Amino acid sequence: MEEDQGMSNMGSYEEKIEQFSWEQAEQELGYQKDAMINIGYYCSDRICETGRAAKLALIWEGYSGEIKQYTFNDLRIHTNTIARFLQNLGIQAGDRICLFMDKIPELYFGFLGILKMGGIAQPLFSAFGGESLLTRLEDAQTIAIMTQKKHLGKVRKILPDIAFLKYVIVVDDDGSKPLQESEISFNLEKENPVENFETFPTTAETPSVLHYTSGTTGKPKGAQHVHYSLIAQYITSKFVLDLNNDDIYWCTADPGWVTGTSYGIIGPWANGITQCVLDAGFKAETWYKFIQDHKVTVWYSAPTAIRSLMKEGLEPIQKYNLTSLRHLCSVGEPLNAEAVIWSEAAYGLPFYDTFWQTETGSMMICNYPGMKIKPGSMGKPFPGITATVVDLKSHEPLQKPGVVGLIAIKPGWPSMFRNYWNNEATYKSKFIKGWYICGDRASIDEDGYFWFVGRDDDVINTGGHLVGPFEIESALLEHEAVAESAVVGKPDPVNMEVVKAFIALKPGFEASDMIKLQIMNFIRKRLSPLAMPQEIEFLDALPKTRSGKIMRRLLRAKEWGEEIGDTSTLEND
Ligand code: PRX
Repeated sequence: MEEDQGMSNMGSYEEKIEQFSWEQAEQELGYQKDAMINIGYYCSDRICETGRAAKLALIWEGYSGEIKQYTFNDLRIHTNTIARFLQNLGIQAGDRICLFMDKIPELYFGFLGILKMGGIAQPLFSAFGGESLLTRLEDAQTIAIMTQKKHLGKVRKILPDIAFLKYVIVVDDDGSKPLQESEISFNLEKENPVENFETFPTTAETPSVLHYTSGTTGKPKGAQHVHYSLIAQYITSKFVLDLNNDDIYWCTADPGWVTGTSYGIIGPWANGITQCVLDAGFKAETWYKFIQDHKVTVWYSAPTAIRSLMKEGLEPIQKYNLTSLRHLCSVGEPLNAEAVIWSEAAYGLPFYDTFWQTETGSMMICNYPGMKIKPGSMGKPFPGITATVVDLKSHEPLQKPGVVGLIAIKPGWPSMFRNYWNNEATYKSKFIKGWYICGDRASIDEDGYFWFVGRDDDVINTGGHLVGPFEIESALLEHEAVAESAVVGKPDPVNMEVVKAFIALKPGFEASDMIKLQIMNFIRKRLSPLAMPQEIEFLDALPKTRSGKIMRRLLRAKEWGEEIGDTSTLEND
């Protein structure tokens, strides 16, 4: 699939590779080494200073169809107002402030407001249950949480268990339900707008965002980012999403996950682009209507959503005018060739796959407008990024095309995570022989295109969201009926993987559908709907290694119909 190169921001990929430098992005943003760089400022004040104050920054639509619009000047003032409010409470630069909200405007303003006052933003998915929330707030020693009335129940429940949390800020208090004494009401519409706020003088290495991500073992880890990440998020938005001044851009991701912040807040707004947000669940017709009504031109989504749209077929597409669309991108899971080919037939445009991670902070391996797409391939490294695949054991770069190894990236790109919060040992373990090892397997073909093979660990990717088996297994053990558990990913045609739990029950408990449902609900409430096992299989005992460890990989291999062979290779879990 070829496209006209001349029209895109990137132009020729080969030429860009030759000419590219991160300094170019710095210059475009007027950033000078060692000077102040603050994401909040760059996404609002700077856009106003460059003559775009009256331009629409955000078109927001709620689940009931209510629409709100905000200009870049509104964005500047609202983020100032939140920043000042947080400062007045006594919150200091460097403090962690959690955002625990649906995709309401306050989430977006709050994120930038926190950054403007020098705080570290910790966005968490609002569908998280109490335990998921508690683990992450405890780990980050979070001092404040900004939330909505509807999520207060979960927050109140865990409050007695968190020593550090001092401020519970309710952003949509309308007086209809009394708040508790310790809770603080904040209402953007009633607050005095702050016209001038002195942005905290953050510099390149000042921590900015803490995004929690799941691993195979242990608790979720907080990938710690810095304000300098802006350079990469800005330039990839320009070259990969191909954003231009007139675009209306829609990123479907929730800012509880990294796509929703790097490309649902920072990158596009630093480019002065109008963004749309739909605070409603997935439904094909709602999505198409949204694109039609707001004349979305650039759309960034995920394979699970694309496969769900494929399932709905062409009929709903024909009901809406989607001719505004001009560029489509995807992230989060392997984008199968069928989905690329289908989207070309359905929308007249292919989806361009992009590969990256919470840890990388910005896109790493992508397909670019103007570059030939090979459907099913993740594309090629972004200019300025050195990526390869290394041998699974020796970690030396593989020289031959087509051989499967681990995706590895040369450290030093601007948006690289700078640590895992409180967990430097794990952070360091990701760097081997001068490479950052992503934990994914892939091969590179003779033309330099990367082909994703799968993860190199047991982390489950369900609908583009990573869930850690360990976190679910630990939660399962808290259920009164569960003696042992092992959690694996099971193939799924739409979500790629869903969570499956193998459980051995305690004596006195009988396997039944009823107990399955109870356990599923238990996990949904404690952790999240994503972590909830879609399937539970009861076993008398779980397979174990000689040293007594549960052989999760053996169970996984069975689900995927893989040869089990010599089980000793499956033992090192
Ligand atoms: O396994 C890869 C998969 O998602 C992981 C990163 O997940 P997370 O940190 O939550 O960030 C997701 C959004 C940036 C990767 O290690 N992944 C991400 N993009 C792709 C992908 N797998 C295949 N193809 C992709 N394009």
